[in-house]
Amino acid sequence: MATKIKTVFFCQSCGYESSKWMGQCPGCRQWNTFVEETVRPKATPSKGISASGTPGRALSLPKALSEIEMNEEDRYDTHIGELNRVLGGGLVKGSLILVGGDPGIGKSTILLQVAGNISSDKRDVLYISGEESLQQIKLRAGRIGSFNDKLKFMCETNLSTIEEIIETTKPLVVVIDSIQTMYNESVSSAPGSVSQVRESTSVLLRIAKSLGISIFIVGHVTKEGQVAGPRVLEHMVDTVLYFEGDRHASYRILRAVKNRFGSTNEIGVFEMQEKGLVEVTNPSEFMLDGRPEGASGSIVTCSVEGTRPILIEVQALVTRTNFGFPRRQANGTDFNRVNLLMAVLEKRIGLQMGEYDAYVNLAGGMKVAEPSLDLGICLALISSFKNKPIGDGIVAFGEVGLSGEVRSVNMAQARVQEAAKLGFTTCIVPKALEKKLKSTAKDIEIIGVSSVSDAMKLI
Ligand SMILES: Nc1ncnc2c1ncn2[C@@H]1O[C@H](COP(=O)(O)OP(=O)(O)OP(=O)(O)O)[C@@H](O)[C@H]1O
Ligand SMILES: [Mg+2]
Ligand SMILES: [Zn+2]
Repeated sequence: MATKIKTVFFCQSCGYESSKWMGQCPGCRQWNTFVEETVRPKATPSKGISASGTPGRALSLPKALSEIEMNEEDRYDTHIGELNRVLGGGLVKGSLILVGGDPGIGKSTILLQVAGNISSDKRDVLYISGEESLQQIKLRAGRIGSFNDKLKFMCETNLSTIEEIIETTKPLVVVIDSIQTMYNESVSSAPGSVSQVRESTSVLLRIAKSLGISIFIVGHVTKEGQVAGPRVLEHMVDTVLYFEGDRHASYRILRAVKNRFGSTNEIGVFEMQEKGLVEVTNPSEFMLDGRPEGASGSIVTCSVEGTRPILIEVQALVTRTNFGFPRRQANGTDFNRVNLLMAVLEKRIGLQMGEYDAYVNLAGGMKVAEPSLDLGICLALISSFKNKPIGDGIVAFGEVGLSGEVRSVNMAQARVQEAAKLGFTTCIVPKALEKKLKSTAKDIEIIGVSSVSDAMKLI
């Protein structure tokens, strides 16, 4: 019997499936994203995974938690502290990890480093590239360091070949660079299309879960900053990591967007160097590097990423408008939040900024949208407006409300400790936290403020 070939239209942006072409996608509201792809109905539908291995082969009985065996070896050390942290304490055996990021940000580099590190613990690792030749990989590897023979490389894009090789060689960790170059013979559309990406990921998911192999998948990112291919990809994998960073700056931030085995608030900070990505263990120091002394419009504030406080310099520049309409700009923080804070300053402390342009920037290129930055942003704006520098030893944090009140924030103690550690002498904090922080603070003066105007008097 001949297999019937069916054609379906997929939205290339979100994976919405439709039997007919549509101009606008009902899923993501984008225009002209539908592409026709052929799908052959499969003989054996692969649905999910089963503990016994390949679905349908052996009967697996339900088990109580106490009957499920655990190994101590269930998390691998990647030897990169920042990555272990983002993964929630190491690489989980049998997990599927999607690593997304802009072109050239360092995805292949970090995965090559991880592959090398894991293989140095006498574990078999297989690095499969669909983008670079073996010579190109060797070139990069030569730059990064030395590798042992437990790490094997292969250039391949056909998933059934890859599946066969993984089944025979049984590595513990596999790197797939990248999912957009992989193809599945049973799907007739081009590599990188929604159905290919989805099908390839489901094959990898099956391999990971049935053989207990951890698989890193590199995913390219679209202009909008999402992993190209359907959103369903993100649902299928266990962990989604995004690599971000300023193209022009050397540091890179690794962020977990989804993690089944750990917190998603953690970030890892790296610096791109000649010999690969090097972890930055003290990001505060890194972020404050090159801070101007005695300049107006600059103050240090403290944000918390996951469990870790990071000191960041907030810079503001307020200048008279040359044209009728004042310009406002925010780099690294929420533009609307900056507008709101300026309105608060105008109304509550009478700072007339209507005829001024205002630019707010987080130095170092970090992106933070935490309300604890509010007080720092306000003080930087005031300082620039009045052209009055803020003392170098001051750190300020706190959320600012619409009546100009300064509200408390979480993890205040950790923030103060970080400031003290880096030699700051004064910390301006929300009044509500003053007492508690004073009792524990060492080597740093705590000043509580209940409103922005209180804080203004201090600088
Ligand atoms: N000799 C070098 N010294 C410092 N940095 C380098 C050097 N060679 C390459 N790089 C950096 O490495 C980056 C490329 O890294 P990598 O190939 O891992 O990125 P990628 O995310 O895998 O890119 P793609 O999406 O194209 O695969 C370059 O953008 C560059 O910043
Ligand atoms: Mg690459
Ligand atoms: Zn869509």
